[in-house]
Amino acid sequence: MTNQYDLKNNNFGIAEQLWNWWPLLPLYPYGRRRTFVKEIIPKKIWSFEQLQGLYYVAVPVRLTVVKVEGGLMLVNPLPPTKELLHSLNALEKVYGPVLSIVLPTASGLEHKIALPAMARSFPEATLWVCPGQWSFPFGLPLSWLGIPSNRTKLLIEDGVPHSESCTWISLGPLDIGLGRFQEISCFHRPTGALLVTDSLIGIEAEPPELFSKDPTPLLFHARDRGDQPLLDSPELRRRGWARVVLFSSFLRPECLDIPPLLDVLKYAFRPGLINSKAHFGLFPFSWKKGWEKSAEELIGRKGPLLQIAPVLERLVFPRAKEAILDWLDELSRLKGMRMMVSAHYSRKVPFGSGQVKRLKNSISKRPWAISSGNWSFLNGLDSTLLRGGIVPKDPLETFRD
Ligand SMILES: [Fe+2]
Repeated sequence: MTNQYDLKNNNFGIAEQLWNWWPLLPLYPYGRRRTFVKEIIPKKIWSFEQLQGLYYVAVPVRLTVVKVEGGLMLVNPLPPTKELLHSLNALEKVYGPVLSIVLPTASGLEHKIALPAMARSFPEATLWVCPGQWSFPFGLPLSWLGIPSNRTKLLIEDGVPHSESCTWISLGPLDIGLGRFQEISCFHRPTGALLVTDSLIGIEAEPPELFSKDPTPLLFHARDRGDQPLLDSPELRRRGWARVVLFSSFLRPECLDIPPLLDVLKYAFRPGLINSKAHFGLFPFSWKKGWEKSAEELIGRKGPLLQIAPVLERLVFPRAKEAILDWLDELSRLKGMRMMVSAHYSRKVPFGSGQVKRLKNSISKRPWAISSGNWSFLNGLDSTLLRGGIVPKDPLETFRD
């Protein structure tokens, strides 16, 4: 049975997990992309997860599969390895063919990179992309990026897919200098699930199950020095995960020191650690006392903590809080919403009218896009971009009527 099969996952090897296009966006785990499949809502929504990150700072990136009338809709493509296609084809046998592939973000490179390959894997599917797609350093037409124009439509501008069961809501557009930020969320009415890409996340203390296939990134970061071996325990995995969350949230949190090169070399190349898995003992991080407190502010204890990712708040929305509030207003009018499925972190986060209201209140009242503490590095980046004229002072101006 498909459901049984999906829940079990498989022990595929490297040959079925190869992603040969990885040099286009050279992120960990490079050419080997394991896929973890989980049914989120029985017979309706499935999560396909792979890891993606830099220097073992890796978080799940998610393709969400939704049962729609006559077949399946894929939201946020992932590298279509043999392993991933095997599971998708198993779902197709039971629930019908892949009818549409949706790229609902204009800016999220990690979501758009696999669209051409995914489109080739499903030649009959219609592609729906967020308007305002851009490429860097040159703005190339979609067909030059490998996206077939004869079966590609722009979300909202050309209509929307599966309107019999889906309501589509736009966050943005915003001018972010190099291109635009826009994300179009899908509210799947039969299940009450809101599918978002980067706008909202939920983070919990337990590391994502995906790491059970290879916990190396967690064990690597659970250490304090390069001469310490990579030991494994549930506690160490949680510790490593908390640090990965801090890195990916703030890029360079205040509770982290980068030691001088000589100190790093002093503890490197020790017996037993001269291998690529341990990065040869090179560990250029030193966590300050009390770093756990910073992590606690991002991580839910009893379940996922709903939040706007600090990177997004500080680099995309620092001067556009009203766009987030308008979007939340729209969400609060959706009838029957009860959960959120985001393209990163926790796969299922409680999200109903109560959560929307609390989030809106908190954003309205708390200091927004602050500049100090763990946020200092992000603030520095934003200030540099602003001073250099790379990002506009008013990101909403370009798109105002
Ligand atoms: Fe993303």
